[in-house]
Amino acid sequence: MSIDLAVIGGSGLYNFPGLENTSRHALDTPYGPASGDVVTGDFAGRKVAFLARHGESHTIPPHRVNYRANLWALHSLGARKVVGVNAVGGIRGDMGPRVIVVPDQVIDYTHGRYTSFCDVEGAEVRHIDFSEPYTESLRRELIAAAGKAGIAVVDGGCYGATQGPRLETRAEIARMKRDGCDLVGMTGMPEAVLARELEMDYACLALVANFAAGCGDEAEISIEEIFAHLAAATAEVPRILGVLLKS
Ligand code: HPA
Repeated sequence: MSIDLAVIGGSGLYNFPGLENTSRHALDTPYGPASGDVVTGDFAGRKVAFLARHGESHTIPPHRVNYRANLWALHSLGARKVVGVNAVGGIRGDMGPRVIVVPDQVIDYTHGRYTSFCDVEGAEVRHIDFSEPYTESLRRELIAAAGKAGIAVVDGGCYGATQGPRLETRAEIARMKRDGCDLVGMTGMPEAVLARELEMDYACLALVANFAAGCGDEAEISIEEIFAHLAAATAEVPRILGVLLKS
């Protein structure tokens, strides 16, 4: 099958609105099952594959997502271009709730996740280049599409990937800020590096749901507020991807 674009939906994006003539694919992989069925269909005249990273009922926490199976499943269906949609907290002052960012760097603070397909004894060990963790051409396509759709996005920023599922402490975010992180999320890694290992183009649409701990006015971060902001930002995603697919 030829897939023009694969979309991995994060918190708040459990199906792809507007996808037509859909088929479901329950795929087992050498790494176990993916987060759920991959749904393929037509959108803006092109073939799209959609997978809900946390499962369609949001039952899989960030540290238990089978990232390898997800990327493998999309690759085995023929996808070579992937947009990961990720809910994030904003660290930088201009990355407040509802802002959409297309990051260009990553720092990985996660642990205990499978971060490579090269972990079978006796298999070839590959040290892939990851200086630029996102595919620049796909980042540019996303930014241009958002511009054409009249949706403001921030070009660039460093995504700090944390383990979750808890939110971070103020001290952890202060450290991440010193490290150079602009955003914090729980699912950006190892997704990006696994896509690179499979030689798939990969870019991230980061939807800011809240200011990260200690970065906003609130003493506490409310989950209700996170989901309200996320719903607003998520509504823009099909519009951006629709323009991208038509370009
Ligand atoms: N931290 C980590 N992940 C997140 C946050 C946050 O503050 N908000 C949404 N996803």
